Amino acid sequence: MSAAPGGEPLIRISHLSKSYHRGAQDIEVLVDINLDVFEGEFIALMGPSGSGKSTLLNLIAGIDQPTSGRIDIGGIDIATLSEGQLADWRAANVGFVFQFYNLMPVLSAAENIELPLLLTDLRGGERRERVAAALDLVGLSDRADHYPNELSGGQQQRVAIARALVTDPRIIVADEPTGDLDRTTGAEVLALLHALVRDQGKTIVMVTHDPKAAARAQRLVHLEKGVLVDEVDDGPDAAPASAASPAVTAIDSAIADVAAASGASGVATAAPADRGSGA
Ligand SMILES: Nc1ncnc2c1ncn2[C@@H]1O[C@H](COP(=O)(O)OP(=O)(O)O)[C@@H](O)[C@H]1O
Ligand SMILES: [Mg+2]
Repeated sequence: MSAAPGGEPLIRISHLSKSYHRGAQDIEVLVDINLDVFEGEFIALMGPSGSGKSTLLNLIAGIDQPTSGRIDIGGIDIATLSEGQLADWRAANVGFVFQFYNLMPVLSAAENIELPLLLTDLRGGERRERVAAALDLVGLSDRADHYPNELSGGQQQRVAIARALVTDPRIIVADEPTGDLDRTTGAEVLALLHALVRDQGKTIVMVTHDPKAAARAQRLVHLEKGVLVDEVDDGPDAAPASAASPAVTAIDSAIADVAAASGASGVATAAPADRGSGA
């Protein structure tokens, strides 16, 4: 496919299967999945409810273990890591975005974003700099001290994206990130994810039911009852900025206008790690 750079894929899934035991029964949730994902790709994973999308996402993110097969990420077969190694690997390499944001209600936006950094060796000052850069990136610098219940759904999801980004992971997994949002805020969140791929080279695997969300991705992958049924190389509808449909471009400019009006200094222009003492 044209969007994929040459060389080794960042994520290589080979003959991956997952089943759960239920009494005497084995429930096969994923069956012989093979999939390559290249660095800088934005992939949408679609399929009916119960088809195994979240299970596959959790396996890629190292929060679940396969029954058989391999998941090589950046040259490491993550199925061979111990729980402790996996936790360290995850903290360094993967950011999560969930449908219902999963923010801690008793923590402010900034404190929520700081949480993953508490698992690192970074000192307080450096952590605060990273948090400020991540807040800036999602256009919420002026909401740092707000609690989740003082934020809209779209703003909460942007805080969650900042939390996913603050450790500067290579991979972001998102499980129905727009599932709880209206169209406009959903489009805003998608534009932000798209910008992370375009401007920072992040690799995103996103589960979605929403055709609009899927249209934002460069590649669609479909699961049916645990089987990868096809891979659609999305020609004219693919999402790279240069090839965006007029509607998507219009949404982009609308978001840029809103961001400008609300004082956000441009969305996704630099990785948190690259930011100095700004903000
Ligand atoms: N921990 C578990 N134990 C047993 N069955 C599970 C478990 N987690 C998921 N499943 C089953 O695996 C199937 C796929 O679930 P899931 O990956 O959540 O689907 P999707 O995200 O596509 O809706 C479902 O039939 C679900 O009941
Ligand atoms: Mg699911």
